[in-house]
Amino acid sequence: MEWSPIAKPRGAVRREPCLKDYEEARRTFSWDQAAAQLAGLPGGALNIAYESVDRHASGAARDRLAIRFLAQGADPHDLTFGELSAASHRFANVLKQLGVKRGERVATLMGRVPALYTTVLGTLAAGAVYCPLFSAFGPEPVKARLGLGAVRVLVTTDLFYRRKVAPIRAELPDLRHVLVVRTPGAGDVPEGTTDFDELMRTASPEYEVARTSPEDYALLHFTSGTTGKPKGVLHAHAAIVAHVATARWVLDLQDDDVYWCTADPGWVTGISYGVVAPLACGVGMIVDREEFDAPRWYEILDTQRVTVWYTAPTAIRMLMKAGVELAKARQYPSLRHLASVGEPLNPEAVVWGVEAFGLPFHDTWWQTETGAIMIANYPCMEVRPGSMGRPVPGVEAGIVHPRDDGGADEVAQPDEVGELALRPGWPSMFRGYLNEDERYRKCFRGGWYLSGDLAKRDADGYYWFVGRADDVIKAAGHLISPFEVESVLMTHPSVSQAGVIGVPDPVAGSAVKAFVELKAGQSASEALRKDILAHARRQLGVAVAPREIAFSEQLPRTRSGKIMRRLLRARELGLPEGDLSTLEGAP
Ligand code: WT7
Repeated sequence: MEWSPIAKPRGAVRREPCLKDYEEARRTFSWDQAAAQLAGLPGGALNIAYESVDRHASGAARDRLAIRFLAQGADPHDLTFGELSAASHRFANVLKQLGVKRGERVATLMGRVPALYTTVLGTLAAGAVYCPLFSAFGPEPVKARLGLGAVRVLVTTDLFYRRKVAPIRAELPDLRHVLVVRTPGAGDVPEGTTDFDELMRTASPEYEVARTSPEDYALLHFTSGTTGKPKGVLHAHAAIVAHVATARWVLDLQDDDVYWCTADPGWVTGISYGVVAPLACGVGMIVDREEFDAPRWYEILDTQRVTVWYTAPTAIRMLMKAGVELAKARQYPSLRHLASVGEPLNPEAVVWGVEAFGLPFHDTWWQTETGAIMIANYPCMEVRPGSMGRPVPGVEAGIVHPRDDGGADEVAQPDEVGELALRPGWPSMFRGYLNEDERYRKCFRGGWYLSGDLAKRDADGYYWFVGRADDVIKAAGHLISPFEVESVLMTHPSVSQAGVIGVPDPVAGSAVKAFVELKAGQSASEALRKDILAHARRQLGVAVAPREIAFSEQLPRTRSGKIMRRLLRARELGLPEGDLSTLEGAP
C-alpha cells in the first residue's frame, strides 16, 4: 500500500516552528554556534545540570514550573526550577558528604519519582557520572551493570532494594552506599542502607556546581550488543549542546510548552529527552508515575493541556488497539506536535495520529550511542509515513557497505539497502564503551560511525529503516541482548544450551523467544518449561525474560560451537535458510 505524504499538521494549534527552513539550516548551521547559545560556566566549563536548572533558577524563570509529577490517587506535585535546583544541590552535598569524587558513578534503580530527578541533576552538579538502571530489571541485569560500572552510590527504593539488590549486594565490592527512598508506612530502611530523605533534609541547598569541562564524562548508559557483556556507553557534558539543538528543531520546544515524554528514565530517551533537554530549554513537563493506561493517557493529554508529546511505537500501537473512539472521546485543543522514537513506526500509526489527534506522529531515529536525535521528521517538512525522516542539521548520514579492509563504501544508488552510518563529530556522540576500547574502535570504519541498523535513503534524502544488521532484539522499545538472556537460561539446572531470537509481535514489534536444549537425562515437559520461564523472569525481570520457550533436540551450531540464531530465526519464520556452509554437520 502507498502512503501519501502528510503535508501540514491539521491540529488546532498552529505556530511558527523553531526550525523554519531545513535546507537553510543544514547549509548555515555549526555546532559551535549551537554551543554559544548555552550559558556555560567561567573558564569554558560546561555542566549539564547547570544548563538544565541552575541557569533558569538564578534568573527570571526561578518560579516557573519545571516538573509536574502525577500519580494515581494523589494530587499533582509541582516543582519549580528554583526548587529543583535547591533539591539537586542538596543531593550534590550528600554526595560530597559520602566522599564521592568527580568522575565516580552514581546510579538509580527507581520509577518516575521525584528523587530520581534530584539524583540525576545533583550527580551531574557534583561532577560525578550518572548511570540509570531500568526499574523492571531483575537482580542479574542489575548486578551486571552495577559491577561493570563500578558504581559507588545507588539510589533506589526499599522495595526494589529488598527484591533486586539485597540478594546480590555481597558481589558488588565497589558499591559503598545505598540510599533508599522509603515507602510510607513501611518501617525502617533495610539493613546496610541509608534513608535518602533523611540525608536530604539535613543537607544544605547551597552548592557551587562543578566546573566540568565539556569533555568530562557525565552519563553512563548501558545498552545491549549481540555478544558479551552489556556495553557501558559514555557521554560527556558537551552532549547538552545536541540535546538542546534537537529539542528545539525536532521536538519544537518553545517557552510556554507543556511537554510530556513517556519514556522511562531507566533508558537514554528518558534522560536525554525526559529530564535534560526540556529543562535546558526552560520548558515545563509532565511526569507520570503510572504505567501505560489508555484512558489515563488521554486524560493527561487533555487535562494537563500537553502541547508537545514524545512517545514510542509500542505505546501508539496499544492506543490504536484500544480504539480510536476512546481517543476521540476527549479533545486536545492544546496539543500541537507529536513525535515518536525507539523502534520502527509503521505508516498506519503515523496516519492514525491524524485521525485521533488531528496531527501525525513524527518519527525520530537515534541510539544510546548517538546520545541525541540524529534523523527526524520536522514540523516544517512534509511527513512521509514509514520514513524516519532526514538527518538533523550538523549531522551527516550515509548508507554504506563496510569493507573487510577497514573502509566503507557509500551505496551508489538511492533506495539501495546498506548500513546506516554517521560522520563522527556531533557533540553527543559517545566517547567510548566503558573499559572496552577495542569494541569502541570497531564501531568506526572509513571515517564513519556504523550504527548496526540497515536502512535506505530515497532520492529526496529521506531515510527508511530496514532492520538490524545484528541479532539484538527490540521488544517494546527495549534493546535486549540475546546473549544476556541465553546466559541466564543456561544457569537453570536442566538447560545445557540456549538460543534466543526476536519474533514479530503486532504490538511490541518483537517478542523474545528462547530455544533450549536440555542436559542429558532431562526430558521436556510443560512443568519444566514453566520452571525455566519462572527462573528467567526472576533473574532477568519481566521486561527482558523470554515470552516463549521452546525445547529443541539440537540447536543449530557452527562448527566452532556457536549457536546460529540467524538460522533459528529463519526456521521459525519460514524464511530462506541462507548460507549454511558453517553449520555443524554440513558437508
Ligand atoms: C536502536 C537504538 C532511540 C533512543 C532510544 C533507544 C532502533 C530507534 C528507531 C526508529 C526504527 C529505531 C534502532 C536503533 N530504533 N529509533 N525511529 N525506527 N528503529 O536507543 O536502545 O540504543 O536503541 O533502536 O534499531 O539502532 P537504543
